[in-house]
Amino acid sequence: MSSNSKKLIAVIGATGQQGGAVVRALQAQGQFKVRALTRHPDKHRGLADEVVEADLDRAETLKAAFEDVHGVFLVTNFAEQGTDELKQATAAVQAAKAAGVKHFVWSTLPDVEAISGGKLHVPHFTGKARVDRIVNDAGFAHHTFVIAPFFYQNLLAWTPQKQEDGTLGWALPIDPTVRGIHMGDIRELGPIVAGAFAHPDEAGNGEYLPLVGDFMSFKEIVDTLNRQGHEFSFKQVPSEVFATLFPGAAEIAAMFAWFQAHTYLGSDMRDRIALANKIAGRQPTKFSAWARVSFPVHASA
Ligand SMILES: NC(=O)c1ccc[n+]([C@@H]2O[C@H](COP(=O)([O-])OP(=O)(O)OC[C@H]3O[C@@H](n4cnc5c(N)ncnc54)[C@H](OP(=O)(O)O)[C@@H]3O)[C@@H](O)[C@H]2O)c1
Repeated sequence: MSSNSKKLIAVIGATGQQGGAVVRALQAQGQFKVRALTRHPDKHRGLADEVVEADLDRAETLKAAFEDVHGVFLVTNFAEQGTDELKQATAAVQAAKAAGVKHFVWSTLPDVEAISGGKLHVPHFTGKARVDRIVNDAGFAHHTFVIAPFFYQNLLAWTPQKQEDGTLGWALPIDPTVRGIHMGDIRELGPIVAGAFAHPDEAGNGEYLPLVGDFMSFKEIVDTLNRQGHEFSFKQVPSEVFATLFPGAAEIAAMFAWFQAHTYLGSDMRDRIALANKIAGRQPTKFSAWARVSFPVHASA
């Protein structure tokens, strides 16, 4: 198929980890033309077939961004100050619907508030879950929910710190023996999203597709790294102490409490994980294999 006759997929967050993975997977697959969306198109020329301006906080930019588009991938960035995920996602859904988009893919997370019966407040999970209904009710010909896992890459960002006993490691508010963390190499979200666009009959009827490379406890994470030559420690910190350590720590403490009580995904999603892997056409990388390459021993020496 010539590139002009290929359907077009627009990717929000194309300059970031999730959207970047989607751009690369779509390019590797070759079935679609890719329009990378960013607030700063001049800085990212050449990122995809087209690079177009889009700002989720300026709904007027979304009309041109979604013009002639068959499919949209949307992720919102909770971490950016001032972000209202519900407002941004609603603007994107409305603009996509008005533009005649056929397949909408939303990167969501479980509804912590509902599943924990209102006991735990993790706005960057619950806020995304609340968008699901809006996507569902919009009436796209196809829509898909993908669920990003606890990124393996978080362990590189949250580098092990010197502890009081002189060891290097993590001090976090979670029982290290409880297996509750669905994890993955976030770059592997791309093939799931690209697969969903390519197989709308199988994955475009509101299916939930989680990326899960491994399911571990923090003890298993640390043991895996230490078997590869690291010498990391782990200390469980009381949730109420951790919550006071830095701005935003209370939400992180609640997130770890969520992992411990309900697991990251909040329910048994083995069938959904299997479907996601089928749609992606591959098994995601296990933590040990990722760590051997991406968390080499000299990095922590
Ligand atoms: N870390 C984890 O384990 C984890 C797990 C699950 C989900 N998440 C979620 O992942 C999300 C972040 O995804 P990421 O890691 O892929 O992000 P990232 O690498 O930090 O990149 C952020 C992306 O968002 C785009 N963006 C931000 N504000 C925008 C706006 N107003 N309009 C248009 N685009 C905007 C940026 O585009 P430009 O700057 O180019 O405009 C950039 O591409 C967060 O919401 C977080 O809650 C994280």
